[in-house]
Amino acid sequence: KRTETAAMVAAHELLKKFYHHLLMHTNEGEEALNYLLQRGFTLEVIEQFEIGYALPSWDAAVTFLANKGFSLPLMERAGLIAKKSGEDSYFDRFRHRIMFPIHNHQGETVAFSGRTLGNEDPKYVNSPETPIFNKRNILYHFHEARLQMRQKQQVVLLEGFADVIAAVQAGITHAVATMGTALSEEQARMLRRNASSVIVCYDGDRAGIDAALRASETLVEAGCYVKVAMMPDGLDPDEYVRRYGADRFRHHVLDASLSLTAFKLEYLKRGRHLQNESERLRYIEEAVKEISRLSNAIEADYYLRQLADEFSISMDALREQMAVYGKKQQ
Ligand code: CTP
Ligand code: MN
Ligand code: MN
Ligand code: MN
Ligand code: MN
Repeated sequence: KRTETAAMVAAHELLKKFYHHLLMHTNEGEEALNYLLQRGFTLEVIEQFEIGYALPSWDAAVTFLANKGFSLPLMERAGLIAKKSGEDSYFDRFRHRIMFPIHNHQGETVAFSGRTLGNEDPKYVNSPETPIFNKRNILYHFHEARLQMRQKQQVVLLEGFADVIAAVQAGITHAVATMGTALSEEQARMLRRNASSVIVCYDGDRAGIDAALRASETLVEAGCYVKVAMMPDGLDPDEYVRRYGADRFRHHVLDASLSLTAFKLEYLKRGRHLQNESERLRYIEEAVKEISRLSNAIEADYYLRQLADEFSISMDALREQMAVYGKKQQ
């Protein structure tokens, strides 16, 4: 078992170098390299993240691995190649894709994600769960970010590969990503063990906002102090950095991140026309309901006071309404 997983890791390490070579030094890799450069990735981060390119071939990885002496059934279990149904022959899982190597917490390469150069579905093809790759326990860029996380006692949690790379290019090195899936309890605990506070900075679309709220709850349960960064206009962090630059991302997004409650209150405003009286009243009611969920009386009082100021309502009225929701503050 031990030697099998060691061989799986060794195969990933070699294939990573092969993919990276194809991207950087071959004619076949030129289209992929141009795609990355045109998106704003620098050669420096392409090197740093060891990004690669998988050929549009059905057997390039199969041949490469066989020539290196790896057993093909083992490589199938490692998720690098797939087996034709009913036959004894294998084919490449990743074809004509930009390859992002994924590392475990020891820095070993244990999985890949491959992005199409265009808009085909699926946008990303990922390694399956294998003996060396358990998605619940891995965050993208965790190994590399760990030291910075510990020193700053803070981590920036993002959705995707491009977001982490854009953040690093912007000088934010304590950034990791969930790779599109819901944040697991294990991942939340991993973050908590290395940093006390987490800035959740997911995509500004509907899916990202919903996922940010869910991830935040998981993080709070794990004992993290959570702040949420609001991405404007449906942008994701990568798009934001490319459009507005690193400085604005730091100061207008990360430094402006909100407490979870403030984020929820902001979120309740979305799509509401607050100049309209009945919509305004409805918002206030929902905001009070949200505040009534807080167990900390000082915090509750703080947000109530903000609401009172913002809409010129008496604290008495807000407190009375809060009592209606059943949660008297002690
Ligand atoms: N993802 C995935 N499979 C997909 C789509 C997304 O595994 N079909 C994961 C990837 O890890 C991706 C993350 O979810 O990085 C976030 O998804 P999305 O926001 O759609 O992709 P981006 O990271 O913005 O990718 P890009 O900028 O390259 O379009
Ligand atoms: Mn290189
Ligand atoms: Mn997204
Ligand atoms: Mn995105
Ligand atoms: Mn993106």
